[in-house]
Amino acid sequence: MARAYNFSAGPAVLPLEVLQEAQKELVDYKGTGMSVMEMSHRGKDYDAIHQEAIATFKELCGLGDDWAVCFIQGGASMQFAMIPMNFLPRGGAADYAREGTWSGKALKEGQKVAALRGATVNVSCDCAKDIPTRMPKADEWKWSEGAAYYHLCSNETIAGAELKEFPKVGGPLICDMSSDILSCERDYNAFDMFYAGAQKNLGPSGMAVVAIRKSLAEKGNPDIPTMLQYRTYVDENSLFNTPPTWGIYVFGETMKWVKKMGKENLFKLNAEKAKKIYDVIDASGFYRGTAVKEFRSNMNVTWRLPTEELEAQFVKEAAAAGMKSLKGHRSVGGIRASIYNAFPMAGVDCLVDFMKEFERKNG
Ligand SMILES: Cc1ncc(COP(=O)(O)O)c(C=O)c1O
Repeated sequence: MARAYNFSAGPAVLPLEVLQEAQKELVDYKGTGMSVMEMSHRGKDYDAIHQEAIATFKELCGLGDDWAVCFIQGGASMQFAMIPMNFLPRGGAADYAREGTWSGKALKEGQKVAALRGATVNVSCDCAKDIPTRMPKADEWKWSEGAAYYHLCSNETIAGAELKEFPKVGGPLICDMSSDILSCERDYNAFDMFYAGAQKNLGPSGMAVVAIRKSLAEKGNPDIPTMLQYRTYVDENSLFNTPPTWGIYVFGETMKWVKKMGKENLFKLNAEKAKKIYDVIDASGFYRGTAVKEFRSNMNVTWRLPTEELEAQFVKEAAAAGMKSLKGHRSVGGIRASIYNAFPMAGVDCLVDFMKEFERKNG
């Protein structure tokens, strides 16, 4: 079996054990005579999978009974639309951080819904265009008073910049954690809602995992279609319609894997993996990190080479050596190594050796 070292930003590498378990259970799930893909979402076998997936995730995040966990199709991008549709009141206001591409997209959706509702959107910071890339500093936030909610992104996947400390705001704090959920120590109870497209640290693509305080979901605007209301997912435990059952099963297996690894071990490994790559960048006059040091992401390491030709050559030669998808996002170029929870240390060691050798030959 030849597994590539897959540095893709998402869909991304999944734990090999999870893939193997899914393979083992693919055609006959625990003696039921059918695949999880084939079972009714109303049956007891699927129900156990569904409940366990939610319970394990809640345990890992330290969430109590006041929280609901929902599976919503349309990825994190659908959340960009659902958040303002649910929580932006007519004539009201919401605050958005513009830290990079993704929070910028969330802001755009907020502005669209605000225009429909005669509401206002305040931009609480704007460092999306800064080079080197970064997140807002603690004293830069300009949160307004009395907003219906405050939205930000914890890790800008394209920029390779991560927020290490979260601001205190005067109302519901909502965070897009698509690319760094469950990757480091974090107080999830400091938020009122957080969400992630599943395809990076949680499982296969096809849904967002949304954790929301039940009290917040209840406050959502009732004048929008049923499937767009959070309360529908909370009240029906994400079973109002047919949920993405296979994705939820693999998500549950991935959460069990995180639990088995031990969160603390995993978080420590993540920091070590990132440090190894940043150390090579810092020791070199050839590679140049894209992000300001204090905001460097432990999930998406981004850097440049002296020329675009050398970057293309780097990506090509790395792929030939079994290290795939190192090309930076098409909007910014450069190199990006996405090293999510399931990315193995051996792959980082392989990359680091390759980087040193590439610099020796071309530097
Ligand atoms: C931080 C962040 N937010 C949102 C998204 C969009 O996710 P999706 O493709 O699930 O809509 C991405 C995708 O890479 C992301 O990295």
